[in-house]
Amino acid sequence: MQKNLFNYYQKYLPINENTPFVSIGEGFTPLVKSENLSDKYNCNIFFKLEGSNPSGSFKDRGMFLTVAKTLEKKKKKIICASTGNTSASAAAYGARYNLETVVIIPKGKIALGKLIQAMAYGAKIISINGNFDESLLAVKEISDSLDFEIVNSINPYRLEGQKTAAFEIIEQLGFSPDFQFIPVGNAGNISSYWKGYKQFYDSKICNELPVLYGVQADGAAPLVDNKIIKNPDTIASAIRIGNPASADLAKDSINESSGEFMKVSDENILDAQKIIARKEGIFCEPASAASVAGLIKLISKGYDFSNKNIVCILTGNGLKDPENAQQYLQSNIIKTSSDPDEIKEAILKY
Ligand code: F0G
Repeated sequence: MQKNLFNYYQKYLPINENTPFVSIGEGFTPLVKSENLSDKYNCNIFFKLEGSNPSGSFKDRGMFLTVAKTLEKKKKKIICASTGNTSASAAAYGARYNLETVVIIPKGKIALGKLIQAMAYGAKIISINGNFDESLLAVKEISDSLDFEIVNSINPYRLEGQKTAAFEIIEQLGFSPDFQFIPVGNAGNISSYWKGYKQFYDSKICNELPVLYGVQADGAAPLVDNKIIKNPDTIASAIRIGNPASADLAKDSINESSGEFMKVSDENILDAQKIIARKEGIFCEPASAASVAGLIKLISKGYDFSNKNIVCILTGNGLKDPENAQQYLQSNIIKTSSDPDEIKEAILKY
């Protein structure tokens, strides 16, 4: 029988006898030790592969619980704003649990794989002339009058569910890491991890707490620049957010963990995406690669991570955003006829 978050972590979650069971097999994602980057930087780097969740991102950890609590309240409709992954996850759980699902997305700003997922799962998709922040404002405005449950991370059950990733890391390592790098968009996930680490620390399951680094993109770094960004812009569409809803929680998490918010360029992000794919055999989406880009940036600035245990959260699967990757990978393909000699020559010349 597949382990599930609902039963396995029940005593740490707001689940009671009236909460219906919900699962599509989320959680229990691999924590993979880096072979090449660990050697290169003389530390132990681990990747938490959140792209291995059923809809391909960490959102499923929060969505299983949010949908369970929605069903517990006997509500039949869910709504979210999204840069793509929340909409894919909401649509998946909505389909399975027979909920009317509406997703509000910024027009032309969603990675193709995520949009196709929401379509495949059968959500009602509203594409607006506006960015994510405006999508979320609209959701807040209309949800009550239409009796929808909001399943964005402003719903506290999302953060509760997502904290299970920190539990898993502690169980997988046998201790808590020294450092964690995580991409930050709407700032819910970093807050979830901190909640999870603290809960296991308070329960004496671990003796230490990690230092958190929250990584944003240069053009969408409201928490680094300390101001709302009106027109956020980055190739990492998942974290193209200028006014994070959980900014205060995230700031508390960073302060309490003695960590930092930091930002990386789109070039850093794509370089990191390439390195993780080429050196580690893991293809993650650009927003996820921001975590590794953050680590590499600090190392290049002289931070000493020697012999430390470092976890980078790879929040989503690379297949979700084929268009971005295709743009810089196109030149990798050499075209030939079907003539074996010509093929052989192409291989030798590659
Ligand atoms: N990584 C990925 C792949 C994401 O999809 C997101 C957020 C984040 C990181 C940042 O997490 O918002 O909790 O700080 N995606 C949201 C969405 C906004 O709509 O799918 P966060």
